[in-house]
Amino acid sequence: MNADQMFSESITQKEKFWGKQADQIEWFKKPSKILTDDGINYPTWFEDGELNTCFLAVDKHVKDGFGEQVAIIYDSPVTNRIIKYTYNQVLENVSKFAGGLQKLGLEKGDTAIIYMPMIPESVFAMLACARLGVTHSVVFGGFAPKELAIRIDDCKPKAIITASSGMEVSRRIPYLPFVKEAISMSEHQPNYIVAFDRKLLGNRIDFKNDSTLVDFEKLLTESEPADCVSIESTHPLYILYTSGTTGKPKGVVRDNGGHAVAMKFSMKNIYGAKEGETFWAASDIGWAVGHSYSVYGPLINRNATIIFEGKPIGTPDAGTFWRIIEEHQVAVMFTAPTAIRAIKKEDPEGKFVKKYDLSSLRTQFLAGERCDVATLDWYDEFVSVPAIDHWWQTESGSPMLGLMPGIANVKIKRASAGKPIPGYDIKVFSEEGLELEPHHEGYLVIKLPLAPGAMMGIWGDPERFKFGYLSRFPGYYFSGDGAIKDEDGYVFVTGRVDDVINVAGHRLSTAEMEEVVSSHKEVAECCVVGIDDDLKGQVPFAIAVLKSGSEIDESVLEKEIVLLIREKIGAVASMKNALVVNRLPKTRSGKILRKLIRTMLDGKEYQMPSTIDDESIVAELQEKMNTYKKKYL
Ligand code: COA
Ligand code: AMP
Repeated sequence: MNADQMFSESITQKEKFWGKQADQIEWFKKPSKILTDDGINYPTWFEDGELNTCFLAVDKHVKDGFGEQVAIIYDSPVTNRIIKYTYNQVLENVSKFAGGLQKLGLEKGDTAIIYMPMIPESVFAMLACARLGVTHSVVFGGFAPKELAIRIDDCKPKAIITASSGMEVSRRIPYLPFVKEAISMSEHQPNYIVAFDRKLLGNRIDFKNDSTLVDFEKLLTESEPADCVSIESTHPLYILYTSGTTGKPKGVVRDNGGHAVAMKFSMKNIYGAKEGETFWAASDIGWAVGHSYSVYGPLINRNATIIFEGKPIGTPDAGTFWRIIEEHQVAVMFTAPTAIRAIKKEDPEGKFVKKYDLSSLRTQFLAGERCDVATLDWYDEFVSVPAIDHWWQTESGSPMLGLMPGIANVKIKRASAGKPIPGYDIKVFSEEGLELEPHHEGYLVIKLPLAPGAMMGIWGDPERFKFGYLSRFPGYYFSGDGAIKDEDGYVFVTGRVDDVINVAGHRLSTAEMEEVVSSHKEVAECCVVGIDDDLKGQVPFAIAVLKSGSEIDESVLEKEIVLLIREKIGAVASMKNALVVNRLPKTRSGKILRKLIRTMLDGKEYQMPSTIDDESIVAELQEKMNTYKKKYL
């Protein structure tokens, strides 16, 4: 079956197709129902099946005789360490840590937050939760305590699993102090903080005087291993918060059964990874890519996965990715275009690339943001393995557009994220919900049901799920992206049509940033837009109007806004600029013309919107922007 036939069967004979894919994993109780879809409720997959995701990722391989195969390669240029763990060793660590969590009273139905750096213990924690049916929520380390507090109050964890510190190049990130600060801000109080003491980094935790603060290592070594619990297919494996169009992040809920099937399917067919090979997704476990393709996907597919604690540049140089590929014989790699852009900037002549033997590498996958052609050109010139762009979202948990080198040779079209992946019936709609002809730009929507593994909903907020994704075009999932299809069915993603921006492959909400900027005591109103950035794709830019009578110096205000964003959202937001203006351009109904502001800041040509209330504001704004750009940009 070729990729087009596979896609066609996945849409026209859903149960047959996904039933076959479900047979590729080992169930504790095989599902008799493949799809439950009454046309009223949101569809679910494999409803009466039972399984355990940790079993599939670890125990199964040991049971099948692959216990001595390497499962996790921890490569940490920031601490100068490389440690390998076999499946046997992962099983021992995970089952004992799960036993420890059980001793603390954690059981199926509970939630736990994991706020940790890129170390193997973070993966053990995720898998231990999965083993017990404890729904985990991993929070990216680049988020500030306030963001962590929001997530604590939303998913109400019984425990928070963390580490003493992380290492960002050479800067120590105080994880445990951040957790304590977050708990002091949150209403919900977890029963325990389980902290991994990174003795190597020098700061020791004093566990003696606090009975709610538990030593990760001691808990693991002093506990009996726990068995895998049989989990219903639709039981939530994890909640992963992502940015939406309002200030509050939304907790995307992932099931166990659909997810495991999607992981096995995508690792084999989309990524073309063979069991036993090394697969590397250079992402952080705090993002969807990290969940799916640094942890669950490769382990379920019996690959060795790399947990990388470093950056593509500066740890120590632009050759790190290539060194890792050679040293660990990486067969398939996945990263964000921004990482390649960073390397290209440091190494335009490919000098670092040429130092390494990359013959193990078969395919490079790119996603997370649009990939510019110049970056692809550089990649082709110096690395010369196929670089395949593909598109997905936290919501899907696996690719929705892409190519399938696991099945056959693929034809890459520059600037396209590929064709619809089996299970994702992707259309491009007009404002009125009509399918557009090829080469017309519109909204990227997907006919329900989405494939197995896609989100089940938003944690604790079914209304927001319906309103945000399902109500705009009834019967379809609204992705929030714009797109164009061509006559061969290739899709070109044109970018978000909402207030979400993509900064260095990290998805962030400008609405959330606007809330923070507005909280500054001198700011009357503001707007935050994502402007083009050579390295990060986009970076946020704030425009603020002062309260009348305010005498604050504009550069002082800028510094304070930048600091405020860092404190309330986190360094990851990468906000560096704020401009003070007298008035914001608005429509006659009072809506801020964000697109106009963005276009002007990018220095692109713009058309005066017909709905603008006062055209004179535009000239005023342009003058302010010009002065600012001359001075700072
Ligand atoms: N914990 C704490 N702080 C973090 C962090 C973490 N896990 N990750 C990032 N930060 C901080 C950084 O130190 C930086 O702080 P600074 O402003 O004080 O320097 C800030 O957040 C912004 O980080 P980042 O966007 O990563 O910028 P950078 O300049 O440090 O690195 C790249 C730029 C392109 C090298 C880097 O963003 C990268 O490797 N991106 C790949 C993206 C990716 O993997 N995305 C996942 C989806 S596929
Ligand atoms: P996230 O949920 O963090 O994975 O971000 C998802 C968003 O990133 C999508 O809605 C797109 O806007 C963007 N995105 C992801 N992959 C691509 C891609 N290959 N091309 C263009 N945009 C992408």
